[in-house]
Amino acid sequence: MKGRRRQKNLIRGRFAHGRLPEVEAFTASLPFDRRLFRHDIRGSIAHAQMLAKVGLLKASEMRAIAAGLERIENEIEGGRFKFDIADEDIHLAIERRLIALIGEPGRKLHTGRSRNDQVALDMRLYLRDELAGVIALIAELRAALIRIARRHVATIMPGYTHLQRAQPVTLAHHLLAYVEMLGRDRERFEQAAARTAVMPLGAGALAGTTLRLDRRMVARALGFKAITANSMDAVSDRDFVVDFLSAAALTQVHLSRMSEEIILWTSAEFGFAALPDEFSTGSSMMPQKKNPDLLELIRGKSGRVIGDLVAMLTVLKGLPLAYNSDLQEDKERVFDALDALKPALDLLAKLWPALRFDTGRMRAAAGGFALATDLAEYLVSRGSAFRQAHEIVGAIVRETVAAGRTLEDLSVADLRRHSSAFGADAIAMLRAENSVARRTIEGGPAPSTVKRRLKEIGRR
Ligand code: ARG
Repeated sequence: MKGRRRQKNLIRGRFAHGRLPEVEAFTASLPFDRRLFRHDIRGSIAHAQMLAKVGLLKASEMRAIAAGLERIENEIEGGRFKFDIADEDIHLAIERRLIALIGEPGRKLHTGRSRNDQVALDMRLYLRDELAGVIALIAELRAALIRIARRHVATIMPGYTHLQRAQPVTLAHHLLAYVEMLGRDRERFEQAAARTAVMPLGAGALAGTTLRLDRRMVARALGFKAITANSMDAVSDRDFVVDFLSAAALTQVHLSRMSEEIILWTSAEFGFAALPDEFSTGSSMMPQKKNPDLLELIRGKSGRVIGDLVAMLTVLKGLPLAYNSDLQEDKERVFDALDALKPALDLLAKLWPALRFDTGRMRAAAGGFALATDLAEYLVSRGSAFRQAHEIVGAIVRETVAAGRTLEDLSVADLRRHSSAFGADAIAMLRAENSVARRTIEGGPAPSTVKRRLKEIGRR
């Protein structure tokens, strides 16, 4: 019995007894790291090809290994692979199956390799692929926002500070703010991808190997431009995981803010847009309800992704060099963050084009007192000090509010009672369209400026 148990696991030669089942279950990563199987196999094939090239495998052995690994990949993909927790992790599970399938050559695959550099490679390969996917999803969300912005360069809406109506802007300008944010997010993922694409095999357990492996050949085969420069760093470095998680946390925070804004806009209080049925949820009690659960959950999942980042940093914080099993905790953080972020990006890219905007309500909310700064700046252009202009317009606002009117109701005569500097052309300041059109400053909301920015963004 003991003997059989020992045989089930490849690496228990020095043990007289099997592990307690509870220990086996607690220490295993197989239940979650099986997600790495394709990358583990890809890395192993590259390793085997290199072993053959440097003479540590016969060409026939290498071919048997590659064919066996491909067969295992098919088995796992087809759900025919028998996972056994005794294997601990996906690396040993695949290696054990390979030996069962092809016998002796399979026992040579792990030459010059440790699971410590193997798992570092798998994570780098996996993240490299996933980062490309995330970057593509960001591009889709940006493209969706840009398409809507193109149609709404002249759609006036209120801009807010402190969630109080502040100054008129346009829907295009508002949406492009998110496009800028997401552009920085994409840059962060690209930088993370560059630091991820470094090949660690050859580091062994921590101190390299006495065998003359060709590390650069493995790197080339896997499409990595660089190899790790220090074997101890190679097996204990998870900075690339932190890079990904920190970019993911910030992106998810951006998506959370975006979701919150759509939630506000689609409330009866704002009424700027209507949520399409396809993206809304009902209430179990209130028949009239149309709830934005999807958006609330994208907002809510930012807590989870921020948590993944903090958890990973905490795992790393006290670790001495080199490999420690604590590092096994990196996988679920990465998977969890990806599982929140990718659907959020995808769903928002689908939801934005489906939103129906009520541009009339937006326009109506953008006039009135949101034009007070324009009036003050008019006085500045007539020679007033800004502080004086601010005070004069403040008095106009106070009086207008008290009279139950709004700035758009005022005549030149009303304005001139407060300052003789107001001319007939001051009335034009009191239209939101004019206010926006005059904000041609670089980075501003004027349609002409926004169109220019749209062109610049389109060129990249
Ligand atoms: N399952 C491990 C991980 O995920 C692989 C490396 C294990 N190495 C070891 N010596 N226990 O990190």
